[in-house]
Amino acid sequence: MKRIFPLSKVYGLLEPGSVVMVTTTRKGKSNIMTMSWHTMMEFEPPTVGCVISNGNYSFEILKSTKECVINIPTLELAEKAVARGNTSGRRVDKFKALGLTPEPASIVAAPLIAECYANLECRVMDARLVAKYNFFILEVLKAWIDPAIKNPRTIHLRGRGAFMVAGETIKLPSKMK
Ligand SMILES: Cc1cc2nc3c(=O)[nH]c(=O)nc-3n(C[C@H](O)[C@H](O)[C@H](O)COP(=O)(O)O)c2cc1C
Repeated sequence: MKRIFPLSKVYGLLEPGSVVMVTTTRKGKSNIMTMSWHTMMEFEPPTVGCVISNGNYSFEILKSTKECVINIPTLELAEKAVARGNTSGRRVDKFKALGLTPEPASIVAAPLIAECYANLECRVMDARLVAKYNFFILEVLKAWIDPAIKNPRTIHLRGRGAFMVAGETIKLPSKMK
């Protein structure tokens, strides 16, 4: 028998992508924000929609600079990604606090996080839904990947401190690219 599930926990059922760390930079000061509410919207150019709360420092920086990097951590970085998940960069230099390494990106001013297995340099391509939903539509301009990591163990938020770790890869006939 199924039971009714609280609406406040639904996000943990539909959680789409992996937990990522969004970096932004303004006036030489860089910040990191943990984010899980994002969705792919187009294949090429890759387009990503994401919700960044207007109370977050990253919201201010992204809105004004229109650039960011989506850094994808694996299990090894999970604690760092989540530990500082609720600390604002207004008060803390999260690169220093987390012991992470900023690396220059090639197109945008925001840095890559060297320790993450993939990094997506992004520019805001549509901000029309920002005022209403805090929803930024980003175009991925350049993507970087660590070829040594064949089966990335990305982390996925289930809600309330629970995370699922990506594991097995299976292959099935599919018309999806
Ligand atoms: C696992 C996890 C996922 C999160 N996902 C989001 C998200 O999708 N959007 C968002 O605005 N904040 C999200 N947050 C909260 C921000 O990371 C948090 O508010 C952070 O302190 C904002 O940092 P900033 O003020 O330096 O930008 C998440 C936090 C955690 C721990």
